[in-house]
Amino acid sequence: MTTPHHLSDLHAALRPSVIDLGLGHPDPTLLPLDAIRRASARAVARYGAHALGYGYATGPGPLSDWLRHRIAQHEGRAPDADEIAITGGISHALDQLITLCTKPGDVAMVESPTYHLAVRILRDRPLKLAAVPYNADGPDVAALSALIGRLKQEGERPRLLYCVPTFNNPTGKCWSDAVRREVVQLAVREGFLIVEDDAYRELAYDGPTPSSLWSIAPAGSVVRLGSFSKSLAPGMRVGWITADRDVIARYATCGLMDSGGGPNQFAAMAVAAYCEAGEFDPQVAQLRAAYRTRRDALLNAIAIHLPAGCEVHTPAGGFFVWLRLPGVSARRLLPTAEAMGVSFVPGQRFFCDGQGGEDAIRLAFTLYPPAQLQEAVRRLAQAVQAHDQN
Ligand SMILES: Cc1ncc(COP(=O)(O)O)c(C=O)c1O
Repeated sequence: MTTPHHLSDLHAALRPSVIDLGLGHPDPTLLPLDAIRRASARAVARYGAHALGYGYATGPGPLSDWLRHRIAQHEGRAPDADEIAITGGISHALDQLITLCTKPGDVAMVESPTYHLAVRILRDRPLKLAAVPYNADGPDVAALSALIGRLKQEGERPRLLYCVPTFNNPTGKCWSDAVRREVVQLAVREGFLIVEDDAYRELAYDGPTPSSLWSIAPAGSVVRLGSFSKSLAPGMRVGWITADRDVIARYATCGLMDSGGGPNQFAAMAVAAYCEAGEFDPQVAQLRAAYRTRRDALLNAIAIHLPAGCEVHTPAGGFFVWLRLPGVSARRLLPTAEAMGVSFVPGQRFFCDGQGGEDAIRLAFTLYPPAQLQEAVRRLAQAVQAHDQN
């Protein structure tokens, strides 16, 4: 079956001759189409017209209840019923959160590198951005502290830190436990809000996922944004927030929610029916197995085909490998690589101040099967060789 272009942004984005490792998408063949079809039918049968109503601003109770139970089991801290809300995914929740918790011109601190499209959302407000350098095991806490001191001297008070502590986009790295604790302590001391983007929590390949900042923080210091986009399907547009009850109350009573602009009730009900039937864990297990194999295929191909000087670290989860190619300009490499049939995102795009990542590239390993990942790296190696000769 061919998919008409207007039905799928992914198919529209794909260029047949290019293996595009720039796209942080799931493989469509791994999406649980039949299970979602069955879950949607069950949602309509079980919840009747409720499934097609506006629903509550905090989303359907069955999904919150399922999430509360799961979070308690996996994270050792259960959000109370008024400490969780269902959202339309992380992007939507982040946009709404900063609308409610900041005013234009406030300072948001971000890791450097960080998820480039969250930076777009923060800039829309607009917020002023301050970059926090990244060490091997998370943000440089001394540099973060010094940055806050500098901002205060300039009469600014940083309002929030947006971060992806677990299986980071773009680096795939995780903050260590010590850094998690230190950053939370700093937030409590300095009075800024941590906005924890937890998009990749379920996709762990080598062992348990680190604790969320939300689960170790005192009440009020962390808002954690979760999503079914990576663990189930991005098209569902369903996620959740765990936060202090004051934040949830503001979120749930704002004008957008009053006007019915909350989560998609039908999609959230379908996800509830899917999760209640016990289908979530097997799906996550299947994704983990598939993506682990793909990650390993990509890393093996890098070891075989790319020059010995390149630097790569094995991501323990998530979608991405961050590859440094010392001496190579990633931006100049891109057109050469695309002409040779492979694409990526140049590293500089993930630095909000444009300072860094010139010789780095982000490669997603989720969209293509291992053979295509290997072919992509072979083409990338040819492009690097051509770049070296110029
Ligand atoms: C770190 C991070 N946050 C958020 C998102 C988007 O989340 P959602 O689909 O829930 O809006 C992505 C998607 O690539 C991501 O990588």
